[in-house]
Amino acid sequence: MDKPLLKKKSQENKYCRIKFSLLRISVVVNIVLCVFISYEWSVCPYKNSQEPNFPTISGTVTKKPHENDTILLIWLLPSGYVFDSNSCSSRFNIDGCYLTNNKELYSKAHGVLINHRDIKDDLSNLPTKPRPFFQKWIWMNFESPQNTRRLKGLENLFNVTLNYRRDADIVMREQITLKTEDTEDKIFPQVLDKKDKLVCWIVSNWNENFERVKYYNELKKHITISSYGEHFRKILNQKEYKEIMTSCKFYLSFENTAIHYDYMTEKIFNPLNLGSVPVALGAPKYIYDQFVPKDAFIHVDDFSSPQKLAEHLMSLDKNVEEYKKYFQWRKNFQVKLVNYPTEHMCRACQYIRAKKDYQVFVNLNKWYWGAIGSN
Ligand SMILES: *[C@@H]1O[C@H](CO)[C@@H](O)[C@H](O)[C@H]1NC(C)=O
Ligand SMILES: *[C@@H]1O[C@H](CO)[C@@H](O)[C@H](O)[C@H]1NC(C)=O
Repeated sequence: MDKPLLKKKSQENKYCRIKFSLLRISVVVNIVLCVFISYEWSVCPYKNSQEPNFPTISGTVTKKPHENDTILLIWLLPSGYVFDSNSCSSRFNIDGCYLTNNKELYSKAHGVLINHRDIKDDLSNLPTKPRPFFQKWIWMNFESPQNTRRLKGLENLFNVTLNYRRDADIVMREQITLKTEDTEDKIFPQVLDKKDKLVCWIVSNWNENFERVKYYNELKKHITISSYGEHFRKILNQKEYKEIMTSCKFYLSFENTAIHYDYMTEKIFNPLNLGSVPVALGAPKYIYDQFVPKDAFIHVDDFSSPQKLAEHLMSLDKNVEEYKKYFQWRKNFQVKLVNYPTEHMCRACQYIRAKKDYQVFVNLNKWYWGAIGSN
């Protein structure tokens, strides 16, 4: 009589054991996932050149567009991006814009925003339904031509370009702008005493053939460089990134691409913003001169060798008055960063709302990739 009961009990025990070990496994998996995700979030904002990770925006979502709203359909929305269709008026004072990723609104959308990086090679994830006569497709891209796939079939598809280039229809880029009010400089001279490192570099994408890596290898023979980032197994979170940047006298703003029309990244604008003096390598100096005040940065082209550059940096290290001159521009100018990607979406919508002309953008390939080397 007892036996079946025992059996049942042991079965129950077995069941419980399995249940609890499953529970344990799921707890462990969850913890690992959480750690991984929070790690990703902390690292990603500075991982890529132009495309930081998509921030999660929460807030009220307007269910339906108003009668007179301009509808911008974000065709390919990266996962993890929570949508707020009201963000344009609350964050950028742009009224009458309805942002959505609801593909069912395709036939009503005034604009369709397509990020180049998300297009499949065979274009199979682009809209296939006939395009309403009033609808404009916007080509968005923030990678340099060198790092952008050149796809067949895009030549006569788009109406509007959204890009860092100044000859794009909608221009979005970090900029040095006139100060709007006479606000106190929060960076300088406050940070001057806190600078305990001479030259810093944060780098993840490493390739011995890159010009910047060759230059670095030579430069470090003559001057101490504090190096961080994935390559040096010192990954920084956002807070550490800012602290490091602020505590360095000079920052190596080394691009991995050479000469591209108007291409310049946060590699120069972040140190300018956070109070380090950028040492630029990438495009020739005359291109930088079009965007950054001459007295705000140092360009490697001004030195006949890495050794000569190192000597110059060391002399500035000893001469505080000379070093301070690199901060004079801050009296009148400031760095204006862009809020990727929400600001881009809102500006795109604003453009579509304001500009009602018939408009076709032809020859994307020639425009974007053909311009390498031109100025
Ligand atoms: C939409 O625009 C029309 C024409 O300009 C106007 O008469 C109407 O009141 C507007 N509707 C709303 C809800 O603003
Ligand atoms: C947009 O461009 C396509 C071709 O790329 C064209 O057929 C369409 O009429 C254009 N639409 C508008 C509103 O300009």
